[in-house]
Amino acid sequence: DSGLITLDPGYKNTGSCESAITYLDGEQGILRYRGYSIEELAEKADFLEVAYLLIFGELPTKQELDKFHYDIKERSEVDEDMKRILDSFPRNAHPMGILSSLTSALTAFDPKSVNVNSREDMYNAIVGLMGKFPVLAAWTLRKMRSKPYDYGDSSLGYVENITKMMFKKPNEEYKMNPVIVNSLDKLLILHADHEQNCSTSTVRIVGSSHAGLFASISGGVSALWGPLHGGANQAVIEMLEAIKADGGDTKRYMAKAKDKDDPFRLMGFGHRVYKNFDPRARIIKKAADEVLADLGVVDPVLDIAKGLEREALEDEYFVQRKLYPNVDFYSGIIYRALGIPTEMFTVMFALGRLPGWIAQWREMRLRKEPIGRPRQIYVGENARSFVDIDKR
Ligand code: SDX
Repeated sequence: DSGLITLDPGYKNTGSCESAITYLDGEQGILRYRGYSIEELAEKADFLEVAYLLIFGELPTKQELDKFHYDIKERSEVDEDMKRILDSFPRNAHPMGILSSLTSALTAFDPKSVNVNSREDMYNAIVGLMGKFPVLAAWTLRKMRSKPYDYGDSSLGYVENITKMMFKKPNEEYKMNPVIVNSLDKLLILHADHEQNCSTSTVRIVGSSHAGLFASISGGVSALWGPLHGGANQAVIEMLEAIKADGGDTKRYMAKAKDKDDPFRLMGFGHRVYKNFDPRARIIKKAADEVLADLGVVDPVLDIAKGLEREALEDEYFVQRKLYPNVDFYSGIIYRALGIPTEMFTVMFALGRLPGWIAQWREMRLRKEPIGRPRQIYVGENARSFVDIDKR
């Protein structure tokens, strides 16, 4: 009578999955995409190369990469009616809510993208999304800033084009800043995949019903929005700003984070898998110093962040629970130095995670995985009879 069910042995466990894309070792702080270490990829590859690697499994030759980029540019045009959908959102709508809606709306303008029974259809849907998603992300920022939508420039590189679509001022020549392009490229690589995290699992489970690529990715965007997941990068900066406004009193916030009765958490700290340093956080922390120096930006919240990290790494509560800075702890400091508004930080995370989501969705579909149906342990009431309302 415990209400517990034992799963019949033959039940297809669809709660977890096999994958050949990303390897994580949380104890050792190891992260590899298709066998290549994140440290090497962040140092030597560019984002489009890493996207190709994640999606198709191998580093591309120059010809393969050029064709991939050409095919993406060929299918990056977004229907004019999408602007009317975008314009209909309230000015202060959160960009993640807009991006999730627009990504799903892409299906209406490309219904063929749902049926991916052939490799060609699947490839077309993939390069179409790799082309259109950055346009939607950039237009969301331009709407926030009441700037006309910019279509970008097909002669530019993939990440160069993202910066132009986001930052070009109307009626002005856009001057490419290599520091902005290179640091954004590295950040996108570091966010590109992370095995079965919340948003990726969402993409896989939505895709497992054969709902189509755009709808699956739209679900991933919604899951990433949450402050416990990708939304943490926005929450970190808001926390650091609050500490700065509070006179930089990190000790008070550390005490709040440890207080069981206080819902406050040290945002950007802790991880379900990493019980050691998040290797991405280590790279991003180093990059934050370099990028701010290169751009000549002095941001007091960087020192507050480093102070918090020092205190937490010596604090018994954090050490006992193996809470270390994660990918979101320093990334917002770089985004801010690049001129990206706080509300757009999680959109930047989504831009980086897009190829990982696509790779995981493609793997799940090519392996013909069954529809996701995680089981439960029932802990509710046992069978009982109905009672008429006048007898309750
Ligand atoms: C991402 O999964 C992925 O790979 C995600 C991601 C990716 O690339 O896709 O890496 C991206 O989402 C990074 C995480 C971003 N989120 C945050 O920074 C939000 C703050 N962190 C936490 O909310 C938390 O650490 C999670 C959500 C990240 C992990 O939560 P878990 O694994 O469910 O851990 P838990 O909530 O059970 O915490 C264990 C203990 C608890 O204390 P006790 O009940 O044991 O006393 O640690 C405490 C928690 O209260 N704790 C924290 C804390 N995180 C955990 N206490 C203070 N501050 C924190 N940040």
